[in-house]
Amino acid sequence: MNSPMTRAVQIDQPGGPEQMRIVQVPVGEPGPGEVRIRHHAIGLNFIDVYQRSGLYPLPMPLRLGMEGAGVIEAVGEGVSHLRVGDRAAYASQPPGSYCDARVMPAMNVCRLPDAIAFEEGAAMMLKGLTAQYLLKHCKPVEGLQPGDFVLFHAAAGGVGLIACQWARALGLQLIGTAGSDEKCELARANGAAHVINYRTEDFAARVKAITGGKGVKVVYDSVGKDTWDASLDCLAPFGLMVTFGNASGPVPPFAPAVLAAKGSIYVTRQTLFSHITSRERTQAMADDLFAVVASGQVKIHVAQRYPLEQVQAAHRSLEARQTIGSTVLIP
Ligand SMILES: NC(=O)c1ccc[n+]([C@@H]2O[C@H](COP(=O)([O-])OP(=O)(O)OC[C@H]3O[C@@H](n4cnc5c(N)ncnc54)[C@H](OP(=O)(O)O)[C@@H]3O)[C@@H](O)[C@H]2O)c1
Repeated sequence: MNSPMTRAVQIDQPGGPEQMRIVQVPVGEPGPGEVRIRHHAIGLNFIDVYQRSGLYPLPMPLRLGMEGAGVIEAVGEGVSHLRVGDRAAYASQPPGSYCDARVMPAMNVCRLPDAIAFEEGAAMMLKGLTAQYLLKHCKPVEGLQPGDFVLFHAAAGGVGLIACQWARALGLQLIGTAGSDEKCELARANGAAHVINYRTEDFAARVKAITGGKGVKVVYDSVGKDTWDASLDCLAPFGLMVTFGNASGPVPPFAPAVLAAKGSIYVTRQTLFSHITSRERTQAMADDLFAVVASGQVKIHVAQRYPLEQVQAAHRSLEARQTIGSTVLIP
């Protein structure tokens, strides 16, 4: 039997957006624990840039993409939570979602509620599950209570806009940073209690002023190199520094004694993929995300759409800080 073919975005070596090209490959049949999904929309994420550029080294050739939504076409042995014809969405390893259809592990693939459109589903799984674990599981030792201040960088981005709304729903006072006044206003409109344009303002000084000199309980920092030092200055004693990305470049090595000098600070480097290592855990986090979206407390902003064949332009725009909210590729 001839396997159907699919378009897929592949790189043969790490580099710039020009390395990405569309290849035709067989889709294949799902083996045990796998499904075949036909995408209706594909999520674009900053991790795709790290994988493409080689910051996160992976074997070559490499098919990119960690997020998508579509319809289940075939189900392998032992998969009981999905049926042929189900609408589904996922954030999952291994990469390879930039394609029309793929065979992949079923563990992280979740049924998509009817009320959530494919584009939203494709835009919200990796980013929304990240906001979920950040706000619900990355807490200081004393926990987080309504009214507490947290600082969230890149607040108008894909993860950022979800986090702003979810933090508001939890009663937190999220201070959001963003790279333009327009982005700041968008973050504010989506629930940030305070906003700072970190291209024009000293964000550590503003955070101190906003919090009456006390500092925040948690900093959620995905910008990395450019914000690391000043972020530590924003924390209250025993505060938690959550570093979870490197949009401006990786954080350089630092001396632990710095953390003592800044007030016995806790530091953690988190990744979603430590949180979704089982079907049960993935589904529990996804159910929490689906509920907050279904309630209307969190809206998924799909602000940019590109046909799959324009994936190079989509990457250029994300890297140039020209996007807001989420971006999807349409196969
Ligand atoms: N560890 C995890 O589990 C995990 C999971 C998901 C995402 N992440 C991380 O979370 C961040 C957000 O991901 P996303 O996909 O939603 O992307 P995004 O926030 O939509 O885009 C990244 C944003 O970072 C800001 N930024 C600051 N300095 C930058 C620079 N030098 N170059 C490019 N961007 C810069 C830009 O916003 P401004 O113009 O407003 O500064 C840009 O829009 C990324 O760092 C990503 O790696 C981590």
